[in-house]
Amino acid sequence: MSNFPVINFEKLNGEERKDIMEKIKDACENWGFFELVDHGIPHDLLDTVERLTKEHYEKCMEEKFKESMASKGLEAIQTEVKDMDWESTFHLRHLPESNISEVPDLVDEYRKVMKDFALRLEKLAEQLMDLLCENLGLEKGYLKKAFYGSRGPTLPTKVANYPPCPNPRVVKGLRAHTDAGGIILLFQDDKVSGLQLLKDDQWVDVPPMRHSIVVNIGDQLEVITNGKYKSVEHRVIAQTDGARMSIASFYNPGSDAVIYPAPELLEKEAEEKAQLYPKFVFEDYMKLYADLKFQAKEPRFEAFKESNFDPIATA
Ligand SMILES: [Fe+2]
Repeated sequence: MSNFPVINFEKLNGEERKDIMEKIKDACENWGFFELVDHGIPHDLLDTVERLTKEHYEKCMEEKFKESMASKGLEAIQTEVKDMDWESTFHLRHLPESNISEVPDLVDEYRKVMKDFALRLEKLAEQLMDLLCENLGLEKGYLKKAFYGSRGPTLPTKVANYPPCPNPRVVKGLRAHTDAGGIILLFQDDKVSGLQLLKDDQWVDVPPMRHSIVVNIGDQLEVITNGKYKSVEHRVIAQTDGARMSIASFYNPGSDAVIYPAPELLEKEAEEKAQLYPKFVFEDYMKLYADLKFQAKEPRFEAFKESNFDPIATA
């Protein structure tokens, strides 16, 4: 199997731009995932985010997690547990407006640092969206506009810790799923692995790499590109040793944004390929996703085709 794609973002500014764009295109078309290095987010900021996230987990989350998991008696269970994940999480929101000052139990330094981090992720996501437009032959800004709705894109962050697990055979860190949203930027632990993606029916490790940002494609980009880029199933394997940190930020459409395949991509492909994906309001998709996250994505797309499939004519 070919190697997991690692993209040196800095090289986009130099002579190798064409090769890097090609590499991004290949990763989007064939992996749904890639890892960015030299992406411009300062390494010392990433180190501080990591330190404060781990401190926060130890101070405010670890005890609660241990108590809740101990009560489930997982150590004695033999068959796979299919209705829970071995993860401890909390959520923040950066866009359309930040809620970081209202999230309980965070020390001031952590709030400040996460605000700065989210701002930089927003910029990086927007930059990536325009590179995707370029590779897809869409006008610059198309994806951002498609995500806009009435209040602009959203950017929630899920901060997760995957503590050591006594019985990883029966419980996943996080069960397999595709991400519902647009483009996802993940800052993950550089030592403890666990994230895997499904490629050609095989689970492949997403390698931990210091100071990198892992990028993956969500369901909305699959719809807008009419399947040219696909959201890919991934999961987290719980580990017996070491806690894994994972901070995933989701650059998503606004709740009332109407999502549908880009007409330009359909026109180009019209003869050989009909429109494969429906048109819907992002908020409605998320309501469906809330109940069906751990199931295949195709029935989610189908549900909208059945209920309000309205070909592109009304776009
Ligand atoms: Fe995910």
